[in-house]
Amino acid sequence: MNSRLTINLLIIFLIVLFVQKHRAIVTYQALLEPEIEVKKEKCDGCTGGNSTDDGEEELVNYRPIIGIFTQPFNNSHDYIMSSYVKFVQLAGARAVPIQWRDSDEDIVELVSKLNGVLYPGGSTPVRRKDGSLTKHTKKVELVTNLVKEYNEEGIHYPILAICMGFQQITQSEAPYKDTLILREFDSVNNANNVTLADEVSESKLFEEMPDHLIEALEEENITYNHHYDGIKPEVFEKYSNLREEYHMLGVSYDEKDQEYVAVIEAKNFPIYGLQFHPEQNIYSWRPNPEIPNSRTAIEFSQYLANFFIDEARKNDNRFESYDEIFENRIDTTPLHFPEDGKQEVYVFEIEDRS
Ligand SMILES: *[C@@H]1O[C@H](CO)[C@@H](O)[C@H](O)[C@H]1NC(C)=O
Ligand SMILES: *[C@@H]1O[C@H](CO)[C@@H](O)[C@H](O)[C@H]1NC(C)=O
Ligand SMILES: *[C@@H]1O[C@H](CO)[C@@H](O)[C@H](O)[C@H]1NC(C)=O
Ligand SMILES: *[C@@H]1O[C@H](CO)[C@@H](O)[C@H](O)[C@H]1NC(C)=O
Repeated sequence: MNSRLTINLLIIFLIVLFVQKHRAIVTYQALLEPEIEVKKEKCDGCTGGNSTDDGEEELVNYRPIIGIFTQPFNNSHDYIMSSYVKFVQLAGARAVPIQWRDSDEDIVELVSKLNGVLYPGGSTPVRRKDGSLTKHTKKVELVTNLVKEYNEEGIHYPILAICMGFQQITQSEAPYKDTLILREFDSVNNANNVTLADEVSESKLFEEMPDHLIEALEEENITYNHHYDGIKPEVFEKYSNLREEYHMLGVSYDEKDQEYVAVIEAKNFPIYGLQFHPEQNIYSWRPNPEIPNSRTAIEFSQYLANFFIDEARKNDNRFESYDEIFENRIDTTPLHFPEDGKQEVYVFEIEDRS
């Protein structure tokens, strides 16, 4: 083969390679554009017979991304328990960490790209002795306030707060000593039921919940509880911020028969708080008879996950690119299995954040 032919072949080969690669990139980008659709809502609730044009426009975001708060793990790492990540995945979302040590500015920017936020359970202190908020709860409060602003601007933006997260929302709304009662409740590793309040009739969380799940919630012990701290229903009467802003939707009783708040919902925002742990029913698989694993308990948890992610599908906040999402996603980093055989976690080096 002479050298001229070789060079020509080489040039052709390079052109073909370039075109192929470029085409691949274009296809890749096209596939990864956010999939958002604006639909006409079905007009079930409209009055009168001829309702086809009365439907409101409804945005559906098929690729919702949820921010999950980190919290301290040990002296060198923060963490997120994997069950919370899987809980949002089961309903079709992906999760990114909200690193609680990040600056307010960084958190504000991240929240603007997310479609919903989850405050998980854990054992990080929620309040100080005098009722004021810890640093961690202050970051939670910052995000809650941002989310409220988005909703006020007409951007539907949900929060689901579980156990400690639920306590953090309540404590930040009423930062007093008697809001979150510390170490008084005996509801550790405990399956329980929820006694629902009349206000359930005004709740979005319960509006479309199938009757058999509502019945099971009240009559079977399908919620999993793990807390010494708790919130007494009285504070929802006592403090106007709670009374006026939140529905107290249900209570449970601990082993000493003390009543604690089990479910809340903000009146004017898609903000939901649960004292129990719906993610544990599905994703804790220890040989522990106290974690309700019945078909109904699992279905109830799945209902809550689907409800929350449906709420997150209602805004089109987004990251700049799929690469940015991929960089941030929690499930693209390795899982860490603690030696005690408990649940696996994602850990994040603290040094990286400060
Ligand atoms: C239904 O349509 C008819 C005819 O267009 C109209 O007169 C009537 O007001 C409509 N009813 C409602 C409830 O919109
Ligand atoms: C904290 O936990 C991580 C993950 O198990 C581990 O790699 C690290 O060494 C631990 N740090 C300390 C200070 O114990
Ligand atoms: C629900 O829990 C309460 C408090 O533990 C209990 O009194 C009640 O009997 C339970 N309901 C059912 C149907 O088990
Ligand atoms: C639910 O738990 C309570 C308290 O532990 C217990 O008294 C009750 O019998 C349980 N109810 C059912 C239906 O298992």
